[in-house]
Amino acid sequence: GKVCLAYSGGLDTSIILAWLLEQGYEVVAFMANVGQEEDFEAAEKKALAIGATKYVCVDCREDFVKDVLFPAVQVNAVYEDVYLMGTSLARPVIAKAQIDVAEQEGCFAVSHGCTGKGNDQIRFELGFYALKPDVHVIAPWRDPAFFERFAGRKDLLDYAAEKGIPVAQTKAKPWSTDENQAHISYEAGILEDPDTTPPKDMWKLITDPEDAPNTPQDLTITFEKGIPVKLAYSENGVAKEVTKPLDVFLAASNLGRQNGVGRIDIVEDRYINLKSRGCYEQAPLTILRRAHVDLEGLVLDKEVRYLRDQFVTPTYSRLMYNGSYFTPEFDYIKGMIAPSQTCVNGQVRLRLYKGNVIVLGRSSETENLYDPTESSMDELTGFLPTDTTGFIAIQAIRVKKYGESKKAKGEA
Ligand code: ARG
Ligand code: SIN
Repeated sequence: GKVCLAYSGGLDTSIILAWLLEQGYEVVAFMANVGQEEDFEAAEKKALAIGATKYVCVDCREDFVKDVLFPAVQVNAVYEDVYLMGTSLARPVIAKAQIDVAEQEGCFAVSHGCTGKGNDQIRFELGFYALKPDVHVIAPWRDPAFFERFAGRKDLLDYAAEKGIPVAQTKAKPWSTDENQAHISYEAGILEDPDTTPPKDMWKLITDPEDAPNTPQDLTITFEKGIPVKLAYSENGVAKEVTKPLDVFLAASNLGRQNGVGRIDIVEDRYINLKSRGCYEQAPLTILRRAHVDLEGLVLDKEVRYLRDQFVTPTYSRLMYNGSYFTPEFDYIKGMIAPSQTCVNGQVRLRLYKGNVIVLGRSSETENLYDPTESSMDELTGFLPTDTTGFIAIQAIRVKKYGESKKAKGEA
């Protein structure tokens, strides 16, 4: 039978490819272009040289932005306060592309190189089963026939030599990475000690804030219904403007990377209940999310915002992190985003400077929740100061009772 393998060109999935062939399968090597820096041609050559029947690369960059990254910005998605989920967000897009290729190529099974201790195996496999319920999944790192044979890195290298699999000359990095246009992740290896500060040369995408330009970079992001639709900035004194979703996303990425924006280092809780230390470079989502949150302050109704922040944002983020993208509960929570965003129209002016995102101002042509006269400390309009006296009196009913009862119990 034919197996569609998510191939990366690296050592692990090259070994898995050779091993699948040894088990008697025919293998279609699948790659997703999600905006990672990659030599796709070299990966194709390598997959075919090892013995793949076919190599298929799917360009997911545009869909990734439109279907997942912008909705994540719309809902201010974030996991455990800091992680903007660059990897989590890419998984549904990759799973879908892989299943499409498996269907086109007549594969009965799909395979991947995720370890048995992580989130990604869950995200990919739940996606596979949702999109092709009859699919067979081969997860070598959870198959004793595989993991007992390749217990250590040396076994992998020996097997590579035996099968004539070229091993990259560059010295293996002492951590594992996952990259796409939203971010790069660094985990494992020397990072497993949560008190080990990453070496300066680990960080690959974002300029060290200390080395970032001394001149700030200003930009303006325009939102329609909470979706970024325009990014304007100036480059060497020349005004630039982009409007296509991928262009907007990549412009935010480039400007952020140049100016040191978006590096984080956290210990997070994996879905499988292990704690894990991760470092991430997440420039574009840092900028877009910051701008979106700011504009909501100007245009979003207070109680809608409260409900959304209490329920929709954390639920969306947790489901996304846990790989529940193709579930009824995710469809339901996703449906709650748009109704909160009808008024999120306007623009935010930002300044990027040595790792900081500084808000310079915001405005909206269409929304009028913010009334400068009404809110002004220098004007008397809308309601009278004496109205507020009544408002406080009513709020105070309960507060007084609580104070009295504490006093009576001798607690206050
Ligand atoms: N901990 C992050 C997450 O679960 C990053 C995972 C990185 N994945 C990888 N295959 N290196 O979203
Ligand atoms: C892996 O375990 O394959 C990578 C890390 C993760 O999925 O959480």
